[in-house]
Amino acid sequence: MDPMDRYENYRAMVETWLAGRFVDAGDGFDGLREAMRYSLLAGGKRVRPVLCLEFARICGLEPEDALPVACAVELLHTYSLIHDDLPCMDDDDERRGRPSNHVKFGESAAVLAGDCLQAEAFAAVCDAPVPEADRFRCCRIMSAAAGVGGICGGQFMDLGEGSATAESLTATELAKTAALLAAACAMGAAAAGADEKTVAAARDYGAALGMAFQCRDDLLDGDGFCALLGQEKCRAMTEEYTRDAYRLLDAFDDTEFLRALTEKLAGREN
Ligand code: IPE
Ligand code: IPE
Ligand code: MG
Ligand code: MG
Repeated sequence: MDPMDRYENYRAMVETWLAGRFVDAGDGFDGLREAMRYSLLAGGKRVRPVLCLEFARICGLEPEDALPVACAVELLHTYSLIHDDLPCMDDDDERRGRPSNHVKFGESAAVLAGDCLQAEAFAAVCDAPVPEADRFRCCRIMSAAAGVGGICGGQFMDLGEGSATAESLTATELAKTAALLAAACAMGAAAAGADEKTVAAARDYGAALGMAFQCRDDLLDGDGFCALLGQEKCRAMTEEYTRDAYRLLDAFDDTEFLRALTEKLAGREN
């Protein structure tokens, strides 16, 4: 299958699954559900769930059966974006080309919508149609990517970015961005029942890809490594991490799609 057709197939599966969540129930909580849906169904690229579905597939699980695990990663990602935009964080009024969640629903609702999406992410993994031991592994991987060594820790370090060095910025970007892409890959492998060595190999690829992804993001918005080290160095780092990611795929068979995706993300424009 053409790699971009496969991407579209995965993306459509993810959109359908997500659109079926948090529908109005007339029980007094619909305002919260509306705020959650607003950010969740706003046209994200769905890179993380696509990675998760593909790792599940190459490790032997039907993507359909990995779908709740893959979408859990997108729920967590969406929470992180809502909170990232808050006035006490980046204070951004726009996200995905629309008013950010707190601009639309107010700060309190945005905080709660984010909190709720994070909780629902773990619920989605718990309810996935894979063996309990593998669901447990997925929860553990995702919690590590969300906690002190992941998004929250990375976001915390980001607050003090004014005094960043290349070393501290690498640690920040590994935690705030690369950890979740790495978790997405590792969770796909774990959901498929892969052994720990394979799960670790998936995570290592995802971490390198995640760093390339964040360097590319910095290049596009002039932040992070681009602000600290300049465009040329930032571009070179994107290429270097992309090469690392490519090499780390050698641990797997049937990687045509992942290689095409790795290449595409290194040159993405949004
Ligand atoms: C944006 O992530 C935030 C970063 C970690 C760079 P994405 O670029 O995946 O955002 P969406 O989900 O496609 O909007
Ligand atoms: C995105 O980080 C948020 C997380 C990784 C949690 P940034 O603040 O660097 O990215 P954008 O530009 O808002 O998407
Ligand atoms: Mg930020
Ligand atoms: Mg931001």
